Amino acid sequence: MGKKIVVANLKMSMNTSDINIYLKSIKNLNNKNVVICPTSIYIPYFLKQHFYVGIQNVYKEDLGAYTGEVSPLQAYTMGVRYVILGHSERRNYFKETNELINEKIKACLKNNLKVILCIGESKEEKDLLKTKRVLKKQLVTCLDGIDIKNVIIAYEPIWAIGTKVTPTNLEIGDTISFIKDVVYELKSDAIKVLYGGSVNEKNIKELNTISNVDGFLVGGASTDFNKFKVIIEEVTE
Ligand code: 13P
Repeated sequence: MGKKIVVANLKMSMNTSDINIYLKSIKNLNNKNVVICPTSIYIPYFLKQHFYVGIQNVYKEDLGAYTGEVSPLQAYTMGVRYVILGHSERRNYFKETNELINEKIKACLKNNLKVILCIGESKEEKDLLKTKRVLKKQLVTCLDGIDIKNVIIAYEPIWAIGTKVTPTNLEIGDTISFIKDVVYELKSDAIKVLYGGSVNEKNIKELNTISNVDGFLVGGASTDFNKFKVIIEEVTE
């Protein structure tokens, strides 16, 4: 299976003084199984250290007149090595479709970025027993025409993001094995799957016992390095 990884999605959560404090707290972080994804304007402060840096979103073109966007080419040449794509917040607030996400994945792989593709069902879809159908549709469309060698999936049930509610270990394990089966059917190849959604320093020990999980994508708890450190130590050491 290889080493598990822990990914921090800092979202848009820190002002400049918060970021200065955070940077001091991670100064001694020396762990290549950790990826930190800051708000993109702060990325230069995180580079050239002993962990990987990811970007939370990119556009699908390399260069051009796309005001406000950042490209995979620009990210990679700055030193960014991972990209989060298809996060439910991007799908929801910025209306990103599976088709657009597919184009973005292609652009990122062409530029050597490793892709963390987020998929997940809403509460309503879960209650209507549509979870598997939704996840399969996301996988089929997002991964169409893609070599998955540099793709990792993050399973993030939307109802578990920022809610302090997580599925049971059994549910997570079942869903991850479903995702791995679907990808194997599509690509005849194995894929890593992370879990994300209300992972914190208190529940990580238990979540980390799920045997088929390859790591974690952490939002809120990654913005406090004391908490994030507990998660890193539990999962990667
Ligand atoms: P929380 O860990 O705050 O629930 O966020 C999860 C997430 O969206 C990571 O991408």
